[in-house]
Amino acid sequence: MNDKIVLENIYKSYYLAGVTTEVLSGVNLKVEENETLAIVGPSGVGKTTLLHIMGTLMKPTSGKIYIDGLDISTLGDDALSSFRNKKIGFVFQFHHLLPEFTALENVMMPLLIRGNDGAEEKAAEMLKLVGLGGKEKHRPSQLSGGERQRVAVARAIVTRPSILLADEPTGNLDWKTSEGVLDLLFSLKEEFSITMVIVTHNRHVAEKCGKIYLLERGKIRCYTD
Ligand SMILES: Nc1ncnc2c1ncn2[C@@H]1O[C@H](COP(=O)(O)OP(=O)(O)O)[C@@H](O)[C@H]1O
Ligand SMILES: [Mg+2]
Repeated sequence: MNDKIVLENIYKSYYLAGVTTEVLSGVNLKVEENETLAIVGPSGVGKTTLLHIMGTLMKPTSGKIYIDGLDISTLGDDALSSFRNKKIGFVFQFHHLLPEFTALENVMMPLLIRGNDGAEEKAAEMLKLVGLGGKEKHRPSQLSGGERQRVAVARAIVTRPSILLADEPTGNLDWKTSEGVLDLLFSLKEEFSITMVIVTHNRHVAEKCGKIYLLERGKIRCYTD
């Protein structure tokens, strides 16, 4: 198996109002290609921080991140943005859709940023795939919570990333709607051979993943091996 994401000795501290808080204290993690990995842990423990570091949205205080074997600290800001745009899709707990735009336009956005041809057709196809054919013209406020999260999933994968990072993707949904969104994530993962990392504090969600890691006191450990 190839290593898709490797984190080596990651430290992260935040400085706020003269106080330093160390959130990550030497995290080592390997995510293999095509695997689905869950990160669990109580609120405030640093799960989002870790996911943002893994997704190159945030730099660690120290430590190395390799994605597909590339040390991402060797990339400048522009190269890093384009690398991220090409390789990584994100789904957040709050959908982060643009309220003024329709579902279709929201899904088109990452393709437009890339200057991709056929954005509208690709976005429409992706909306159908997530079960939202016919809702293209709806704005986020005209969709249900589950539908909004499906649009967010469509937007995350319309660029065909090989990595999907999901931060409590069902945290705001009722149980039944959560199941639907999760099933969708897992089926898309299979269909497009995506390496998936899901942050959750829901045991049931975690158990659907191949491996579960617990983040605690700044360190991570696997408890499924
Ligand atoms: N930008 C920031 N500045 C200062 N402290 C932060 C910042 N972001 C997060 N933190 C702190 O870091 C800790 C971990 O946050 P987070 O990664 O969001 O945890 P989790 O996702 O596990 O709930 C929390 O104590 C939080 O208050
Ligand atoms: Mg969080």
